Amino acid sequence: MLTAVDINPAAVDNTRINAQRHGVSDQVRVLESDLFSAIGEDETFDLIYWDSPFIEAPLAWSPTIPLEYAFFDPGYAMHRNFLRAAPAHLTDRGRIFLGFSNSMGNANLLYQFAHENELQGNVYNEHLFSVPSSELGPSPEFAAHADAEGLVHLDFTLIEFRRNH
Ligand SMILES: C[S@@+](CC[C@H](N)C(=O)[O-])C[C@H]1O[C@@H](n2cnc3c(N)ncnc32)[C@H](O)[C@@H]1O
Repeated sequence: MLTAVDINPAAVDNTRINAQRHGVSDQVRVLESDLFSAIGEDETFDLIYWDSPFIEAPLAWSPTIPLEYAFFDPGYAMHRNFLRAAPAHLTDRGRIFLGFSNSMGNANLLYQFAHENELQGNVYNEHLFSVPSSELGPSPEFAAHADAEGLVHLDFTLIEFRRNH
């Protein structure tokens, strides 16, 4: 049985519809939940995966529309809370996977949170790619990150966390 959660009701509806479309509704439990809030305290999982909103936003910023939860994490509070709460929901040899980006996210802070929660993180897989800064948008921020050929180097990285002991 797979449990899928999201804070955004539209994402929850979308997941239910996808499960029906692919004929797996009987194997997928879909819940609206702020991280683990709707999960039973004693519930444990072999694998916990989150494709996280890895862009760090200022602490004072808050989402104005639910879709913004997909990209931005003010003060990295959700990443902190996720790595704090997830170990209690892991089986003995369970693993946490985070769909992350080292180039777009704050990896230093992420590994600090892992350390605080006695988790060992390692790169399980990564996909490196380059995009012309002009295709990312008109902001001078993008051009500032470009190399001599005008390319911005990005990655999507799957990070695996296990308990230290
Ligand atoms: C990068 S998107 C991933 C979307 C989709 N799961 C996928 O893999 O394509 C991040 C998702 O995390 C959800 N999210 C953000 N904060 C959350 C929270 N506190 N609790 C649960 N879900 C959250 C967002 O609503 C969004 O759907």
